[in-house]
Amino acid sequence: MKLYDQKHIQDFYNAYAEQETQRWEKSSIEKVKLAVHRHHLRNHLEVGDRILELGAGTGMFTQTLVEYSEDVIVTDLSPVQLELNQQRAQRDKYYHKVKEWKIADICDLSDWADHTFDKIVCYGGPLSYVFDEKITALNEMKRVLKPGGILLFSVMNLWGTVHEYLFKIMMVTTPEDNEKVLKTGNLHPSSYTPSDHHCHMFRVQELREDLQQVGFEVKVLSASNCLSAARAAELEELQKNEAAWNYFLEMEIRACQSAGMLESGTHLIAVVQKPLI
Ligand SMILES: C[S@@+](CC[C@H](N)C(=O)[O-])C[C@H]1O[C@@H](n2cnc3c(N)ncnc32)[C@H](O)[C@@H]1O
Repeated sequence: MKLYDQKHIQDFYNAYAEQETQRWEKSSIEKVKLAVHRHHLRNHLEVGDRILELGAGTGMFTQTLVEYSEDVIVTDLSPVQLELNQQRAQRDKYYHKVKEWKIADICDLSDWADHTFDKIVCYGGPLSYVFDEKITALNEMKRVLKPGGILLFSVMNLWGTVHEYLFKIMMVTTPEDNEKVLKTGNLHPSSYTPSDHHCHMFRVQELREDLQQVGFEVKVLSASNCLSAARAAELEELQKNEAAWNYFLEMEIRACQSAGMLESGTHLIAVVQKPLI
């Protein structure tokens, strides 16, 4: 049975619409995840880069990409998400900096030739939605990157998600159903999910093996958050003191890259490079 159902994911994100923007703003923990994701973008983007954004959603990261380049192509599987992305660009006055908006599935980048982009950004989990097509998608990304080009992406993480939603899991899910999810990493009708949000949650070892199979060199692996997990109330307090908040974020970014913390957050962030030859 093929697990990736393109139409299901497209319909889900068409219906999800603006909630995608609100997701990042709903709590101080989400703001931490946003800051960690943006840190890695800023660390690797260079002025004038030719950039492809995949699964761009409503543009939470598009607005960062256009600070570096006017050679940015923005794509998503969902026409509704892409329309919202365009509206944000108009509202925030960077419409002219995006070269093109295009519907695209990360599993098929045939609209672009080999060796086209300096950077590809695929943040927020698109690779978690394609299940058994993940290697196809990673191979496509590698193909359209220039030699030495860099892919920045994030995927959902298994133990980090348990970490964040522990109470819900313990109260709502039976141990039998939870074991099906832990065994496969899949929130999918073939294992167990009470919701129509289907995704695959990765482990670090699995991700490393996938990247090795495709031939990417790992430059950075990071959790999306770790010290901040399950500390929403304390973070609200901390945010009131700008210097303390900034110091905390800087410490969080370092902690997220420590080997022992990689599986602590809801997402795993990876920065990987296509070899020069
Ligand atoms: C969780 S949102 C992330 C959006 C944005 N990158 C962010 O981090 O805020 C996931 C996005 O990936 C898109 N997506 C899911 N599967 C995809 C696929 N196979 N190809 C391209 N985009 C996909 C969805 O439509 C949605 O807009």
